[in-house]
Amino acid sequence: MLETVKLSKSFKGKKVVDEINIYLDAGESVGLLGPNGAGKSTTISMISSLIRPTSGDIKLDGKSTIKDPSEIRKVLGVVPQEIALYEELTAYENLKFFGQTYQVKKDILEGRIQEVLEMVGLKERQKELIKTFSGGMKRRINIAAALLHQPKILILDEPTVGIDPQSRNHILETVRELNKTSGTTVLYTSHYMEEVEQLCKRVYIMDRGKIIASGSKEELLSILSTEDTIQVQLSNRSESLIDTIKSFSNVFQLDETNVGLRIISKKNSNLLSKLVLASEKEGIQIVNYQVEIPSLEDVFLHLTGKTLRD
Ligand SMILES: Nc1ncnc2c1ncn2[C@@H]1O[C@H](COP(=O)(O)OP(=O)(O)OP(=O)(O)O)[C@@H](O)[C@H]1O
Ligand SMILES: [Mg+2]
Repeated sequence: MLETVKLSKSFKGKKVVDEINIYLDAGESVGLLGPNGAGKSTTISMISSLIRPTSGDIKLDGKSTIKDPSEIRKVLGVVPQEIALYEELTAYENLKFFGQTYQVKKDILEGRIQEVLEMVGLKERQKELIKTFSGGMKRRINIAAALLHQPKILILDEPTVGIDPQSRNHILETVRELNKTSGTTVLYTSHYMEEVEQLCKRVYIMDRGKIIASGSKEELLSILSTEDTIQVQLSNRSESLIDTIKSFSNVFQLDETNVGLRIISKKNSNLLSKLVLASEKEGIQIVNYQVEIPSLEDVFLHLTGKTLRD
């Protein structure tokens, strides 16, 4: 549906977005993760035709959008990183203004305004001035504004940074609902790994202008480790079983914990089945076992050498 081809942007000769290729299929929910200064907002500004790429292309259904962005503007809703609202106007007046800018037809605008206010849960406060709203509520009005023209593609640039948990949950729910129920295609930028894990089927990791990894959460996690870590709880302790496990060729490390054993082995070395056999021989049962799962945060750290929030 939407695709960037070797998309690049330089400011004063410095490349801040460097030949990135990303795509969004219709109905997908995709995450864009990256530390400060990675080039996420610049990428979004180019996609939304606010700034012109230095080189490369952005295609909507196979057609370049750079010379004539009118088509992409129709289908795209963008929630920018910076809140852009008129403080001295009410929530309703702001939405009315944005609706006119997006050229929503007059006779349907009123209905749309009420619809989007309902979506973001602020219908009952529409007559109040924006300057009396909390940061989270302003953000929700910003999202409402981006939804007025019923965009097929919604791009959100760190929509939950610095806001209260209630607004945050509300935003996540709204985005999930739009993706699931209305089939809206979503590109979601965030520093919060857990949000992306919850919302997105596919993730791009960006650092210093480049896409350094992409794939499903599982694919990204598999980049990380060449190891599996398993915790097992045994019916009773046995020195000879421990010795047997230590003798397995792919076991790197074995620690005794207060409930049992923690074993690190080479990835996909069938440790668990070998373990079951060996314990059976000793007449010991595996009461419980748990595979330790690394998080996307770990993958990120591994790839960029930075945590997401530094
Ligand atoms: N108009 C501009 N002129 C010069 N440099 C710019 C401009 N806009 C962005 N940059 C630089 O481009 C780089 C990428 O910035 P960008 O805002 O795209 O990063 P980001 O990934 O959105 O970061 P953050 O997570 O902090 O929002 C930064 O080094 C920034 O200083
Ligand atoms: Mg940004």
